[in-house]
Amino acid sequence: MAQLAALFESWVSPDLHDSSADADIAPKRLACLMTQGEIVAGCLAPHPPHLVYAENPPQNEPVAEGGWEQLRWGYERLRESLKDVEYDAIVLLSPHWQTYVGTHFLGLPQFKSLSVDPVFPNLFRYHYDLNIDVDLTMKIHDKAAEAGLAVTMMENPDFRVDYGTITTGHMFNPEWDKPLVVISSNRSRDYYSVEVMQEMMIELGKVTREAILESGKKVVVLASNSLSHRHFTTESAIPEDMSKEHITSHAMHLWDMRMIEYFRTGQAQRILDEMPEFTEQAIAESDGGGLSWLLSTLDTPTYPATLHGYGTIIGTGNAIVEWPERNHTEGSQ
Ligand SMILES: [Fe+2]
Repeated sequence: MAQLAALFESWVSPDLHDSSADADIAPKRLACLMTQGEIVAGCLAPHPPHLVYAENPPQNEPVAEGGWEQLRWGYERLRESLKDVEYDAIVLLSPHWQTYVGTHFLGLPQFKSLSVDPVFPNLFRYHYDLNIDVDLTMKIHDKAAEAGLAVTMMENPDFRVDYGTITTGHMFNPEWDKPLVVISSNRSRDYYSVEVMQEMMIELGKVTREAILESGKKVVVLASNSLSHRHFTTESAIPEDMSKEHITSHAMHLWDMRMIEYFRTGQAQRILDEMPEFTEQAIAESDGGGLSWLLSTLDTPTYPATLHGYGTIIGTGNAIVEWPERNHTEGSQ
């Protein structure tokens, strides 16, 4: 704060002593400087429930003998990368909160219940207790509405939060000590096409970014999705038996590696350009719009992202990726 005050002094004092200067300009500049929010990082943070199962946290009822370590170590590296970075909230888009009329936002300060994965109830029965940053949520909601997007606040206290939100929330921040903004997946791809979905998600990403910068808060944005998403149709006797785990097909592997190469070489625009082919050919979970939204919140980054981990889960491809936006301040101004 002292540094900020000194910067402010050197910046505005000449104006204040100049009788022709607008006396209001100094406080306006200070207000602008002090309220500028920031996206400190954007991350691809996938949510297969197997990761929580394998971690054996007290909130989850089933007990595992480990498994999927490559990805769990990837999450460890992501958490380590951000452990000294200050931020106020986590903004997360989950493809498993599926809404068919517009985009919805969790709109109450707290949601508490039991979440059971409908496909893997043997792996995921998690007792959650989420805190929501309702103020930031409203800012994003209002900006999206102004931009002409269909939006709704979810204010039913009994609403059950989807396992995608919970798994990503847990793996990213097991302490749950930061409030969340949770955004649904508008399934416009199902009614229309990947192109329509992406156009809407790019717009949602832009307004998300604007709302964050105007909020004065420091925020991490998370897209909770896998890459290739063709999965096995049967489960092995021991779910965490890693001798059974591999990518479903060579074609899926090639698509995943192609996307990761774009992540690592700062080619976000190319990812957006190839999103229709990727989403359809790799049956990718980018169909929920999270990846397009994430890249848009980061203003389509041209700097390299950090790959913290890659691995398969029941045959699907999962990458844990961080765009360290805080190190590229030009992009966050
Ligand atoms: Fe999923």
